[in-house]
Amino acid sequence: MDYVKLGRTNLNVSVAGLGCGGNSKLGLWRGKDKAHAVSLVRRALELGVNFIDTANSYGTEEAVGEGIKAVTRDDVVISTKYHPAWDGEIHSNETIIAGLNESLQRLNLEYVDIFHLHGVHPKYYSYVMEDVVPALRKEQDKGKFRYLGITELATVDPGHEVLMRAADEGCFDVFMVAFHLMHQTARRALFPLTQDRGIGTLIMFAVRTLFSEPGRLKRDVDELVASGQLPSTLKSASNPLEFLLHPNGADSVIDACYRYARHTDGADVVLFGTSSLEHLESNLASIAKPALPETDVTKIENLFQHLEGVGLELPDPSKRI
Ligand SMILES: NC(=O)c1ccc[n+]([C@@H]2O[C@H](COP(=O)([O-])OP(=O)(O)OC[C@H]3O[C@@H](n4cnc5c(N)ncnc54)[C@H](OP(=O)(O)O)[C@@H]3O)[C@@H](O)[C@H]2O)c1
Repeated sequence: MDYVKLGRTNLNVSVAGLGCGGNSKLGLWRGKDKAHAVSLVRRALELGVNFIDTANSYGTEEAVGEGIKAVTRDDVVISTKYHPAWDGEIHSNETIIAGLNESLQRLNLEYVDIFHLHGVHPKYYSYVMEDVVPALRKEQDKGKFRYLGITELATVDPGHEVLMRAADEGCFDVFMVAFHLMHQTARRALFPLTQDRGIGTLIMFAVRTLFSEPGRLKRDVDELVASGQLPSTLKSASNPLEFLLHPNGADSVIDACYRYARHTDGADVVLFGTSSLEHLESNLASIAKPALPETDVTKIENLFQHLEGVGLELPDPSKRI
């Protein structure tokens, strides 16, 4: 496992971070129980992962708290979150701070390393900056979290408006950014800013549904070809990313996705979410591999760099098993 310094923080983090949300939620959305979720956390730790991302809304904080009992507190970096607004409802400072306190209780921790404002909609940005951040600074001074982070609401903000504004506020040490090989906008718009300001980046959506649900990639690519956003040469292919799979290249589309994210300049931690021990191990193996061949990276960037917002939907609770 490789480790990097997360921006200007003092955190030394694994380049692979266990994501406890998404569609799998450590298996809790895939028909698995808490003991299984705990075993995923423990296996990730055994394999060198020291970065774990959860949230008040995921339902996985208790399993994370249980799983990390296997290591000493200083050997793990915990990130959690609370929504400053959701479903059109603004959350008061009292509600957000109560949410932070609940997270600490469920995780059984005195502090988290990173507390994020979760899924900030551009229309609530001023509220966050004027009201919420000053109140949270007081909680930070009390020692409840070490660094403040912010995550974008990728479904409504694929152009990274919120994070581009937040880059210059000085109060956010960590950003969670939507980035994958068919949604690369952060590469040009955001990563130069985060690198210049010393803001650590956590990559979400590296695989998600677009690259993991059978048939989904072909369907989306066919639609992009039909709307003139991708060349017709991609339409006939049963696997539009077949060109990445060869003896010197990727083993699978998922392998290609994690390696592309991992080796993009400006990406610090690639979050990966899963319900399966087998996927956990194969994804960590992918993240540990070298970059894809340069010619393949060039093809990925020439073909897809103009796309924005592909495959960024929220988890669908109706698909919970
Ligand atoms: N702040 C936010 O609003 C936000 C939004 C999105 C994500 N996140 C964070 O980022 C993390 C990562 O995002 P994500 O959970 O969508 O993860 P991801 O790594 O992009 O995608 C994971 C999905 O792909 C499947 N998958 C993974 N490895 C596979 C493999 N080897 N073969 C086949 N299918 C595979 C998983 O299903 P299986 O269970 O079958 O493995 C899972 O449903 C989240 O857990 C969360 O911590 C945050």
